[in-house]
Amino acid sequence: MARNFRILVNGRRHTISAEPDAPLLYVLTNDLALKGPRFGCGLAQCGSCSVLVDGVERRSCVTPVETVEEREITTLEGLPAWFAARRGLTDAPALHPVQQAMLDEQALQCGYCYNGMIVKAAELLEQNASPSDAEIRSAMNGHLCRCGTYPRIVSAIRRAARALEETGE
Ligand code: FES
Ligand code: FES
Repeated sequence: MARNFRILVNGRRHTISAEPDAPLLYVLTNDLALKGPRFGCGLAQCGSCSVLVDGVERRSCVTPVETVEEREITTLEGLPAWFAARRGLTDAPALHPVQQAMLDEQALQCGYCYNGMIVKAAELLEQNASPSDAEIRSAMNGHLCRCGTYPRIVSAIRRAARALEETGE
């Protein structure tokens, strides 16, 4: 039976009505009209629906909304502000450094995997500021790109790590 849930998404609180086992992805896209997380496989296999929950990547297609009540949910739309908050920056950048690096490397083609790739890479760089190529590949392993742009995605993550090192962020 549907009930009200209080969820915190990109720093804003929302009260939504949903079945307890409703996938978080449906709440984000249908109730909050967010365009970042995308439905791909619906089976936790592709990563296109990824979000951060308390800073950890989660597949929102298989995350029941009842498990994330009062947790900090960050979607692609909230990544720049999340990044700024973690570093104590006064202003959030227009784009998260990984987003900027993906553009600079022209790493994406159709862009369907964009959401998950960026969310996962942002999580990785919080945990490991200077990952090796092997560490990047390992971290990104569960994210599928139908266009096969994996080498450029790895280059973009390397570029983002370098940019963060250069700016001291
Ligand atoms: S749609 Fe969630 S992992 Fe594929
Ligand atoms: S760029 Fe098309 S799925 Fe990755």
